[in-house]
Amino acid sequence: MLELRNARIGYGPVTVVEDLSLQVGDGEAVFLIGPNGAGKSTTLRGISGLNRLESGSLIWDGDDVTRLPANRRAARGIAVVPEGRHVFPQLSVQENLEVAARAVDRTDVASRTDEVYDLFPRLRERRQSFAGLLSGGEQQMLAIGRALAQRPRLLIIDELSLGLAPVIYQQVGETVRQLAATGLSVLLVEQNARLAMRICSRGYLLAHGEVVLSGTVEELEQTDQMRDLYLGGLGKVG
Ligand SMILES: Nc1ncnc2c1ncn2[C@@H]1O[C@H](COP(=O)(O)OP(=O)(O)O)[C@@H](O)[C@H]1O
Ligand SMILES: [Mg+2]
Repeated sequence: MLELRNARIGYGPVTVVEDLSLQVGDGEAVFLIGPNGAGKSTTLRGISGLNRLESGSLIWDGDDVTRLPANRRAARGIAVVPEGRHVFPQLSVQENLEVAARAVDRTDVASRTDEVYDLFPRLRERRQSFAGLLSGGEQQMLAIGRALAQRPRLLIIDELSLGLAPVIYQQVGETVRQLAATGLSVLLVEQNARLAMRICSRGYLLAHGEVVLSGTVEELEQTDQMRDLYLGGLGKVG
């Protein structure tokens, strides 16, 4: 459903990602993993439209959307949870969800926020709280909830577990796994390889802006590179 072809993405004169290709199928959950600075967030920015593709193309649902601005891509069903969540701290949980829901489509806002509350009951309890006062885990739920309030077809999450305690990211990760199981497409950037492999069925390993390895979880588990990352992930879980 999503196909990034031979993409070059960077910042002004700086090229970060060179000739990168990846695909996410309809209803598929795919991870993108790799060391800090590998270009994972930059790749996501190219997909969401925050950075333009300097070369290559992006195909979405059969259409070439390479030149489509970010808001139009969002309206067509690509939703992003940015690294570091970036919820609006001075707005309530409810307002955060409403702003996100309205940004894409002004109808049906109440039922879309309700869907998010059904998925994350903790957010319903805290609906009147300032988002800035939430715990890290609650902010991640809200950031994911904001993306889901757009009723996307593809949910992109940049660093789900970052800064969260294992018990919390396991729980949030399980919710994402269930969403993927119901047919939502997911592209997950994640430092914790073990978590990524639990949520997704397939993935890409990125280093220095290039795909160095890709395959199904079963295939990747057999590789030394993935085993190292896997052990690194286990180390982090402690
Ligand atoms: N706004 C920016 N301007 C210039 N260079 C950037 C910017 N953001 C990231 N970079 C550079 O792009 C490279 C990849 O960054 P990033 O995509 O954030 O990696 P990752 O998400 O894999 O950690 C890094 O070398 C980083 O310094
Ligand atoms: Mg990043």
